Amino acid sequence: MNGLNYPDFFNVVRRRRSIRKFTSEPIDGAVVERALKAAVWAPNSSNSQTWDFYWVQEPTKKALLVKACLSQVAARSASELIVITANPRKWRRSNQQLIDWTEREHAPPIVKKYYSKLVPFVYRWGWFNSLGLLKWIVSRVMGLFMPVIRNQCFRSDLECVAIKSAALAAENLVLAIAAQDHDSCMMEGFDEARVRKVLGLGRFDRVVMVVAIGKALGNGTWNSPFRIPNSEVIHRV
Ligand SMILES: Cc1cc2nc3c(=O)[nH]c(=O)nc-3n(C[C@H](O)[C@H](O)[C@H](O)COP(=O)(O)O)c2cc1C
Repeated sequence: MNGLNYPDFFNVVRRRRSIRKFTSEPIDGAVVERALKAAVWAPNSSNSQTWDFYWVQEPTKKALLVKACLSQVAARSASELIVITANPRKWRRSNQQLIDWTEREHAPPIVKKYYSKLVPFVYRWGWFNSLGLLKWIVSRVMGLFMPVIRNQCFRSDLECVAIKSAALAAENLVLAIAAQDHDSCMMEGFDEARVRKVLGLGRFDRVVMVVAIGKALGNGTWNSPFRIPNSEVIHRV
C-alpha cells in the first residue's frame, strides 16, 4: 500500500463531475486506454466478467450512437464515447479460463467446484425461465429454514447481477478519467434498441451505460456539486 493515500483518492472522487459540454479538442487516446485498463479491474460477480466495452471510433457509428443517446449535448460534444454492456450469458466466456486459473494457482478444490458446478447453475435460467421458476420455488422453500440467495433465478435476475458489475466498471472508468485530469459523463439516457443496433449486439446484451469523455468546456456543467445530507442516507444501525 506504499505511496497510496486517502486524500488523493478523495480528490479524484470529487474531481469527477458529470460534464455536459466538452471542448472540441480531441483527447489523447492513451487517456482512454488507461481508463479502460482500470475498468476491467472492477470487482465483479464471481469474477465472471460478463461485461464488454465498446470504444466507438468509426465516424458513422459514432454519429448514430450520438443520435441513439437522444443527441444529448454530452454525447454530441464528447471527444470519445464508450458503451458498456452486460450479458449474463458471458459467464461461458470466462468459465474455462477461471477453472484453468484455479488449477494454475493450486486453489483449494472448493474453488474449482465453485466455477465448474455452481457458476453454471447460478447463471442458467432455462427455456422460458423454466429452470428459473424451479430455482425460485426451491429457494423459497429452503428460505423457510435457512438463509438463501433468493434473487438469482430468472433471466431478469441474472441480467441484474451482470448490470451491477458493469456499473462498477463504469465507475472505475470515470474515476480513472478524472485521475488523469479529464472529464466524463455517464449516460443512461439512450434508446437501448438503437444502441444495440449500432453495435450489432446480441439479444442477451444489455446496454448499461454510455460514457462521454473529453475536456470540460468551462466548468462544463450548469450546477455546483450537490448531495442531500449524509445523515439522510448513511444509517448506523
Ligand atoms: C446511471 C446513471 C445515468 C445517468 N444518465 C445521465 C444522462 O443520461 N445524461 C446526463 O446528462 N447525465 C446522466 N447521469 C449523470 C447524473 O445526472 C449525475 O451523476 C448526477 O446528477 C450527480 O452529478 P455529478 O455526477 O456531477 O456528481 C447519469 C448518472 C448515472 C450514475
